[in-house]
Amino acid sequence: MVSRGGGRSHTMNKNFTKSRELDLEDIKGIGPVIARKLREAGITSVKALAVTPPKLISELTGLGESRAAALAAAARAAIGLSLMSARKYREIKMSMSKLTTGCRALDKILGGGLEPQVITEFVGPFGSGKTQICHQLCVTVQLPKEKGGLEGGAIYIDTENMFSYERIEAIAKRFGLNPDTVLDNIFYAHAVNSDHQMEIVKEEAPDVIEEHNVKLLVVDSLINHFRAEYPGRENLAVRQQKLNEHLHDLLRLAETYNLVVVVTNHVIATPDAMFGPTERPAGGHVVAHMCGYRVWIKRTTGGKRKAMIIDAPKLPEAECEFAITDEGIVDV
Ligand SMILES: Nc1ncnc2c1ncn2[C@@H]1O[C@H](COP(=O)(O)OP(=O)(O)OP(=O)(O)O)[C@@H](O)[C@H]1O
Ligand SMILES: [Mg+2]
Repeated sequence: MVSRGGGRSHTMNKNFTKSRELDLEDIKGIGPVIARKLREAGITSVKALAVTPPKLISELTGLGESRAAALAAAARAAIGLSLMSARKYREIKMSMSKLTTGCRALDKILGGGLEPQVITEFVGPFGSGKTQICHQLCVTVQLPKEKGGLEGGAIYIDTENMFSYERIEAIAKRFGLNPDTVLDNIFYAHAVNSDHQMEIVKEEAPDVIEEHNVKLLVVDSLINHFRAEYPGRENLAVRQQKLNEHLHDLLRLAETYNLVVVVTNHVIATPDAMFGPTERPAGGHVVAHMCGYRVWIKRTTGGKRKAMIIDAPKLPEAECEFAITDEGIVDV
């Protein structure tokens, strides 16, 4: 179950309330009965209906596939998800704020911060700082827009049991935010296995995102359960298929709700006949293909860290240094 980062309080924070959008009932062909079926299936908004594949809508609701396709098409028309001029596309993209990492050098190599509607992957070995970055983002997402935040909440899906409210409290204080309020706006879930991890994204996240204006979703780490549950070559095809499904679910959430999605990933060593053992991100082509930005984190001398953009369609390969302190990720 997704629970608040604060653990106890269940009072809704007044800062982040959802804005009025089209309801499912506003779409042609949707009456109360179909609206209820869709909501029960976790398709709670017009945007969600617009981006969910008709086959999946049909499986989840029991509606025929052609009916599902017609509803999805009506939803896409209603929100203007069709051919548009590139100039209009630019206008839409430029109206979306990026999320600051709270570290100038890191923001710079990311082209100004983390982009919404895309999956950003932080990959690196143990102790490189991936979890620290995720914690910091759960705080910066709550900052006002003029300070690089998105004025929204966060969902933290923890597969390695490494979430620390103490770290959040310390980072919140650094940014001048009330630690209790910050914890209230982080919705935490410990995913106990890969099915649970997928279920949280499919079933629980949409309601929480809508209700609490969530603007960041973190999965730390993406790969942990999948690697443990599907070991060896004989399980590789199933593992990759599941991982692909999970990443598509994440991307759909990102697009539907204009979220920044961040996943962390492990590094694996592979033997190479020519060059000896080489390191690469786990998860193969599926993860490489689905993540819009890949940032490799390494330890350097003096306890500092190096971040490198290794794969981003629009960014040059670039690197920077940062440090991890008690107050989180900082410039050096
Ligand atoms: N309060 C703190 N002050 C300074 N440095 C800290 C503090 N807390 C953690 N660190 C640094 O962060 C490192 C851990 O980073 P983090 O947990 O983000 O690694 P990771 O990349 O997520 O590793 P893993 O793959 O094991 O999950 C520690 O080794 C330490 O160097
Ligand atoms: Mg970690």
